[in-house]
Amino acid sequence: MFSEAETFKFFLKFIEDEILSGKYIPMLIDLFNETWKELTCGTTVKGHPFRTCSLATNDPDSGMRQRLVILREVTEHQTLIFYTDIRSGKMNHLQKNPDSSVLFYNAQIKLQIMVQGKMILHTHDEVWQNHKLRIEGKSINDYNTKYPPGKAIKNPVDVTRTRDLNFAVLELQPEVIEYLKLKAELNRLRAVFRKKNEDWDKTFLVP
Ligand SMILES: Cc1cc2nc3c(=O)[nH]c(=O)nc-3n(C[C@H](O)[C@H](O)[C@H](O)COP(=O)(O)O)c2cc1C
Repeated sequence: MFSEAETFKFFLKFIEDEILSGKYIPMLIDLFNETWKELTCGTTVKGHPFRTCSLATNDPDSGMRQRLVILREVTEHQTLIFYTDIRSGKMNHLQKNPDSSVLFYNAQIKLQIMVQGKMILHTHDEVWQNHKLRIEGKSINDYNTKYPPGKAIKNPVDVTRTRDLNFAVLELQPEVIEYLKLKAELNRLRAVFRKKNEDWDKTFLVP
């Protein structure tokens, strides 16, 4: 059993912690906003390091795999858009298991962002139609090889193309976002944002 004095001390400590945690809430909101700003810059600012990220998928049969992909759009619904060939290995993984994570790094400000969630595959729906209109010229060649990407070939320069467009849109619906900045003013900063209904729970983590 605790004495009255001890109980009061715990109570004071609890109040102090509550006040302190409240003091840092605006900072968490700043980090969250910075995350979305950086992601958006990846699609709008030429040469921004967040233009590419590593996309990890986990296939129940063959295991995990990562590859670089280009971030094409950050939508108004806070989802991330990527393009790929419908016949690619990642499509196969994602059809079996939509769990995905993408990893971004901006070396200039030493900021790492990890986004984890479920991937929606768009092939021939309205989202797909809208993005199809945006791919033009040379980038059509990313989706029209005769044989599927990853197929073994003897001649690396003679890749036959067809009129078929094997284009797919991937839309990542974030559920967890982790922020880590190694070059912050006070300290290293690490925070996690978890989607809860339409809102985001935000909390700091030990870096
Ligand atoms: C800088 C860079 C950007 C890339 N962007 C894409 C992309 O946007 N979409 C894509 O499907 N593959 C992209 N790739 C190729 C992938 O990294 C990968 O090699 C390919 O998609 C096959 O992966 P998979 O077999 O796991 O599907 C990119 C590669 C590099 C080096």
